[in-house]
This record gives sequence, C-alpha cells and structure tokens, in this order.
Amino acid sequence: MFLTLGQYFELFVILVALVLTAVFLKNIGRIVQIAGIVTITVANLIINIIFGLVAGRRRHRRHKKRLNDFNNNAPNGSTIEDIPEEQEVKNQETDEMSTLEWLSSYIINVITTAWECMVLLVLSAYYVTETLILSVTPTAFRSQKSLKHKVVVITGGAGGVGQELAVRLATIKAKVVIWDVNEKAIENAQERFKKENLQIYSYVVDVTNKKSVEKTADVVKYEVGPVDVLINNAGIVSGNTFMDLPDDMIEKTFKVNVISHYWTIKAFLKDMIHRGKGHIVTVGSLTGLLGTYKCCDYSATKFATVGLHESLLTELKTHGHDNIHMTLVCPYFINTGMFDGCKPKNMAMLQPKDVAKRIVTAIRLEEVFVTIPSFARFALPLKHYIPAKLAWAMMFRLIQGPQAMMGMKSHQEEFTHEIVQKESNGGTDYLQF
Ligand SMILES: NC(=O)c1ccc[n+]([C@@H]2O[C@H](COP(=O)([O-])OP(=O)(O)OC[C@H]3O[C@@H](n4cnc5c(N)ncnc54)[C@H](O)[C@@H]3O)[C@@H](O)[C@H]2O)c1
Repeated sequence: MFLTLGQYFELFVILVALVLTAVFLKNIGRIVQIAGIVTITVANLIINIIFGLVAGRRRHRRHKKRLNDFNNNAPNGSTIEDIPEEQEVKNQETDEMSTLEWLSSYIINVITTAWECMVLLVLSAYYVTETLILSVTPTAFRSQKSLKHKVVVITGGAGGVGQELAVRLATIKAKVVIWDVNEKAIENAQERFKKENLQIYSYVVDVTNKKSVEKTADVVKYEVGPVDVLINNAGIVSGNTFMDLPDDMIEKTFKVNVISHYWTIKAFLKDMIHRGKGHIVTVGSLTGLLGTYKCCDYSATKFATVGLHESLLTELKTHGHDNIHMTLVCPYFINTGMFDGCKPKNMAMLQPKDVAKRIVTAIRLEEVFVTIPSFARFALPLKHYIPAKLAWAMMFRLIQGPQAMMGMKSHQEEFTHEIVQKESNGGTDYLQF
C-alpha cells in the first residue's frame, strides 16, 4: 500500500503515541492514559484533515488544468470522449462535485481512517504482547493442535527432509501419504517405515505433471481420506552459476520447486474450503529470502514460494477462510545431499531430523512464517535497511556465502538424463526416474 505524506506522518505520530502511552501507563496512571489516547486521536484527525485538504486541493487543481488544456487544444469537432485519457479525467473530475459534497466525503474518509488507526493501535499492542509472551513460553507449555488421524500429504516424501517428516508425523499417529517421483527412493523409504513399524501410504507421482497430480489426489481422497495437511516439500537444485545453467534445467527447477505448488494446492484447496479446515505448508529456503551464489534458478524459485504463500494467505484471510492455515518454513542448509560440496563458514549444516521436528512443531502451533534457525528471520531483513555496498561486504566478508558455495556439486548430469520430453495428455513434460 502506498501511503500519502500525511499518512506517513500519521504513522510517526502513532509511534510516538505508543511510546507516550507506555510512559503514561507506567508513571501517571489510568486517567492520564485515557487523556493521552484522546489527544492522539484528535492530533490524528487534525493531521489527516490538514494533509488531506492540501492533497485534495492539489489533485483538484491538477484535474482542472488538464481539462482546460484539453479545451484550449482539442481539434475542431472533437469531444472530450474522443480522448480516452481525458474521458477518464472527466469521469473522475471533482469540478462537478460541490464543495459541500467533497468536504463531507472527505470528513467520512478522515473518520474512517482515524477509526482504523485506533483499531490498529489496540491490535498492535495486543499482537506485540502476545508474540512477546509466546516467544518466551517453552513449546511444551503452548497448546499444539493434534494431528492424530489427520491425513497429511508430503511431496518429495521419500527424500531427506520428506522422509523424516513422514516418520515424525506417523509417530504422532497422523495418516501420512508420501508422493515422490523417485520409485526407488520410495521403495527404500518403505523398507525403513516397515522396520519402524509405521504404516505410510506412498504414491509415485511427478508433481510437475498437473494431470498426474489431479489423478493421484483423487486416488488419495478415495483410498486414504480427505486431506487435512498438504506439505509442499519436493525440490531440486542444479548447482551451477548463471552462465552454465542449461535452459531446460532452469525450467525444470521452476516446475518442481514452485509451479507444482499450484497444481497440488489446486488439487486439495477446494476440499479444504468446502470442509472449512486445512493446512498448507510450504518448504521454502533461506535462499528464498537472500540470493546466493550458484542459486540463480533455485533461489528465484524459493523467492517465488514466499510470494505464493503470502498472497494465498491474504486471499484466504480476506475471504474469511481463517481455519485454513498456511505455514512457510525457510531452512538454512540441510545435510541431505542437495547442497553437497558447500562449506558454510559460520554454521554447520542442519540435520534433516531436526528440520522435520521444527516443521511439525510449526504446523502444530499454526505458525505462519518460520526460519531455521529462528534468528535468520530478524537478521535477513537487515539487507533492506543497510547500504547495498555494506550488504555485499557483509555477504562476502562475514557470511562468506559465495566462498561457501564455490565447491557446491552440480546436479546437472544426474538430471539431464532424467528429463524426458513426453507428450502426456496435455503435452506436459515430465520426469522419468
Ligand atoms: N537440503 C538443503 O540444504 C535445503 C535447504 C533449504 C531448503 N531445502 C528444501 O527442502 C526440501 C526438501 O529437500 P531435501 O534436502 O530433503 O532434498 P532431497 O533431494 O533429499 O529430497 C527431495 C525429494 O523430492 C523429490 N522430487 C524431486 N522432483 C520431484 C518431482 N517432480 N515430483 C515429486 N517428487 C520430486 C526427490 O525425488 C526427492 O525424494 C526442498 O524443497 C528443498 O528445496 C533444502
């Protein structure tokens, strides 16, 4: 949302007001507190009126000038409707609005904004306090939703993180379904599940193939039941610098890492909306928050998952689907083989078991955004606030990201022989392992 100068000033006043309110709260007591809030509201209204009047007048004058220019310069016989842009101006013009109408609509606007600001003030105090309290409360004391008998679909469920997720979820009695394109990996995973006495359903499916996704989703609904949790976890990385990225590899990475999320979400969201409950989990990456060397394709797909997560969350909330939860998890390097050859300087790679544990906790706590480790959530946005040159210096000297990624193994060869351009019904390409 773009704010006007007035609104920025308003926000500043609200911030100052928050601080003042805190001081009032601490030292002077309830009466002064109320007086403080009333003063802030009045100040808010006055600021709104002043800035709004100035902006409104300026807009009004601009419109009028454009109309005058048109009237003076229009070719003979043409009307204002002949020129689309001017038509728009005419439709929007404030000239015909009486000053009284304009003022009353403006006052309504001011009152609405003031009300929204008040609500926001109360909500900020509430949410900030809630977050502070929850962040110091040990997880064991927080209420976690039960996943017992819930149907959970994990894409890429035969791989490193996916398999650990399956085991952990099955251990807490969820009905786990894994999808993977790699048949051999599914067989190996099933051997482990049997040894650990866990019943986990598995399906060979390529998530980039929309038709296969739709078909397998129907089979799962029929054989296992309606899906409560979808974990979009399947992912690949090629591990090349930009100039060495083959075109088909770029496309493939986008298809697996992000486009497939559209097919899987489409396959299950309708039912979730119908049932009034559900949970969609996106396994992103810290490279989806900070671009990295040898990750021009991978990192871009992970940034895209952040956009998908945030936008869909907005849509669900706007339409009142508050019981369909969304969780985005962005982990650091995990020791699964995906980033073999990388030598991170400051922190050892995470273990897939620990990542799976954190993801399950995030689902049970219905967290919206999680980074692993958690401090990354506060550290990474710094890049927007410091000079770009300093951001680069920190990346190169402190984080040493490029140096760490130099030795990363390329997965290109193992993927190129697997890319089969196959016409499958709609002519979608898909992978054959
Ligand atoms: N390994 C890391 O360092 C790391 C870091 C951050 C985020 N992640 C993300 O975590 C997720 C899991 O990664 P991982 O480390 O367990 O990788 P992994 O390679 O061990 O597992 C990925 C699984 O996805 C499957 N898969 C690939 N393409 C598929 C397709 N088209 N259809 C269905 N399944 C497909 C693979 O067969 C594999 O079993 C990925 O989304 C990855 O991007 C990984």
